[in-house]
Amino acid sequence: MPNSAALVDLLIDNIGQLCIIPAYDGGPQRGPRLGDLAPVEHAALAVHMGRIAAAGPRDEVRRAYTGRDTLDAGGRLVTPGLVDPHTHLVWAGDRAEEFEQRLQGKTYMEIAAAGGGINRTVRLTRAASRADLIAQTRPRLERMLRCGTTTVEVKTGYGLETAAEITMLDAIADLNASQPLDLIPTFLGGHDIPPEYAGQADAYVDLLVNEMIPAVAEWKARRWPGPLYCDVFCEKGVFDVAQTRRILEAGLRAGLTPRLHADEFVSLGGVALATELNAASVDHLLATTPDDVARLAGSRTVAVLLPATPFGLGIPNTAPARELAAAGAAVALATDCNPGTAWCESLPFILALATRALRLTPAQALAAATINAAFAVERGDRIGSLEPGKMADAVIWDAPDYRHLSYRFGANLAQVVIKGGQV
Ligand code: NIG
Ligand code: FE
Repeated sequence: MPNSAALVDLLIDNIGQLCIIPAYDGGPQRGPRLGDLAPVEHAALAVHMGRIAAAGPRDEVRRAYTGRDTLDAGGRLVTPGLVDPHTHLVWAGDRAEEFEQRLQGKTYMEIAAAGGGINRTVRLTRAASRADLIAQTRPRLERMLRCGTTTVEVKTGYGLETAAEITMLDAIADLNASQPLDLIPTFLGGHDIPPEYAGQADAYVDLLVNEMIPAVAEWKARRWPGPLYCDVFCEKGVFDVAQTRRILEAGLRAGLTPRLHADEFVSLGGVALATELNAASVDHLLATTPDDVARLAGSRTVAVLLPATPFGLGIPNTAPARELAAAGAAVALATDCNPGTAWCESLPFILALATRALRLTPAQALAAATINAAFAVERGDRIGSLEPGKMADAVIWDAPDYRHLSYRFGANLAQVVIKGGQV
């Protein structure tokens, strides 16, 4: 019998369990569909030109494809590369001192009000050069990749003045071009009120609307052909809903898609604003009300939950994850990696937290950190699942099945990470 198998760049063979984690009707997994991993036992994955050519039962895939290279998965688990849709990965210095102060009883907001918090990192970041920021950020990206993350959203927001925010965007674009992970930039000029505008939040919003956002739009035209997001920390003591609306609407006029930090401490109405503006995501949601859960269920806005943040702050995790999932909202997970509340580069650790603090099932948590996270950054058509035609971003885990990714915690089980077909 002639061998009619097509030649592909790479065949990952001898997979014990392959989790495909398909999109649902071209969108995120919702309601009863959340956690549909479409697992295949005894599977193989064919990769060609950086994309998935086929994923399925070993016999079928091997009958149809021969690999120029072959990788033996040794009977282990293979999943899509993890997607981290909310990080503040570019910053200078650290805040270990504030961590100790919090353990001694000070709250995050008290430390911030006394000039620490985000503004402490702003001082250190403004003083750093672009090269410095890149050098400090690169090892964080390496640790993420080693833990199985292949795409990561990265926010600015530690510059809070035009030039420093543009330097952060340049650092993100430079890093995107010089290491394997794909970076998705977000302009977060509305992260806090910088010290020179203390007590004058509206004047800082004027600066954002009249100077910073136009400068960011100009940067985008020059350096970033892909989508660029605009985020705001909508919170008591930071930006109220009216100020948040002004910033996000100015961003929209400049071609930036909204996303938003809301309900981290207090529910101000940020979720209603996010759904009204058709934001890509609304994130944190610790204080989210039942009405807002219903709003999210009826919208395209992805609810991004960040369980490392209350864990890092040592406060209860009150995000209504199960209610959101049951109502049919698109739920995703992220690290929120930042120097203040959650210096966490590991999405597997987030899976461990999400299954305990948020009571998601292991399958729901994994879908939330892959396909739904991909939709939170509007790339659900290209990444987040192992469907044919998608980017070949995959992880071989030193584990027999998907439950081990959240059942076990603290050790890194990622064994081989493949990004765009490259091992
Ligand atoms: O998502 N909430 C605002 N921003 C970050 C904290 C940033 C910081 O403290 O440096 C967060 O938790
Ligand atoms: Fe954040």
